Amino acid sequence: MRVTVSLIKADVGSVAGHVRVPEELLDIAEEELVKAKENNVITDYYVFNCGDDLELLMTHTKGVDSSEIHGLAWNTFKKCADEAKKMKLYGAGQDLLKEAFSGNIRGMGPGIAEMEFEERPSEPIIVFACDKTEPAAFNLPIFSIFADPFNTAGLVIDPKLHDGFKFEVLDIKEHKKIILSCPEEMYDLLALIGTRRYVIKRVYRKKDNEIAAVVSTEKLSQIAGHYVGKDDPVAIVRAQSGFPAAGEVLEPFAFPHLVAGWMRGSHMGPLIPVAEYDARPTRFDGPPRVVALGFVVSNGELIGPEDLFDDPAFDRARRTANILANYMRRHGPFEPHRLPEEDMEYTTLPEVLKKLEGRFEPA
Ligand code: F6R
Ligand code: MG
Ligand code: MG
Repeated sequence: MRVTVSLIKADVGSVAGHVRVPEELLDIAEEELVKAKENNVITDYYVFNCGDDLELLMTHTKGVDSSEIHGLAWNTFKKCADEAKKMKLYGAGQDLLKEAFSGNIRGMGPGIAEMEFEERPSEPIIVFACDKTEPAAFNLPIFSIFADPFNTAGLVIDPKLHDGFKFEVLDIKEHKKIILSCPEEMYDLLALIGTRRYVIKRVYRKKDNEIAAVVSTEKLSQIAGHYVGKDDPVAIVRAQSGFPAAGEVLEPFAFPHLVAGWMRGSHMGPLIPVAEYDARPTRFDGPPRVVALGFVVSNGELIGPEDLFDDPAFDRARRTANILANYMRRHGPFEPHRLPEEDMEYTTLPEVLKKLEGRFEPA
């Protein structure tokens, strides 16, 4: 059977600043999705949070970009935002940037990762959700999973993976896209995705064009024109028999690489892999974090989740991340802890700098 997996997320309010979605909002989202399941709009769902972001994972048979599914997500976020406003939660309704829903949730604030596939005899998927970072945070791990033989043993030893994968890359500044094929165009791919301007949107298996991964790439600051919290991307990755093994999908996160988005969306910091319970960014509003939930999609039903970073094998990555966090924090307001000047344009910094304009003299 053909199944669509839709992961749609938004920050609609949190406690005590931008730390965590409270149970009250998770309950409302749960009520909305259980109704949708009873009415056969969706096949199954899982509601969770990563920090202050409310995550709606849904399976259904309506394909990607379904107005019914997007409408369901939008109305669910709206209901949660209304309650958040009543409760005077922090940042209530923050990511709902537009008023009226007109058939597609793209460009309205929430982040979206969706894929449709023919369900395999067993269909393991891993769902990632981040807080306090941006879509480019997935470039390094997604590249490692699907193109780095030092990460993914299957690229070398499994004939089903040996042909490699194709990467759809977005230029988030010029709104263009390009498809690059690995291993033969690996250096070209790296030339692009080593910068934060180019982000991996989708990955396909080369030999049959099967969808392998999808990342949400919505940029809140571009939609709103100013800083409104971070994009906090999500991703869906298919695993096993012809795709990288679950352990190969998780392996890149054992290296807590530096990403943008910490404190006021203006700082670089390490991406910490955490269990669902620890997805509550506190120190300096962070550091940025990522959760990984494993499911098997079974006739469209979601079996799981398995909380995949809830494993002592990731303790070392967490320890390293904390050492890195200390190191980065010592830079205070200096780059490269603080983001480069062009990224600061979207923040409140230009207001501060305006005051100094008249005081500059020719030098
Ligand atoms: C939110 C975030 C936070 C806020 C910070 C200031 O995603 O990253 O670091 O930017 O807490 O928030 P305001 O300006 O709302 O007080
Ligand atoms: Mg927030
Ligand atoms: Mg967030």
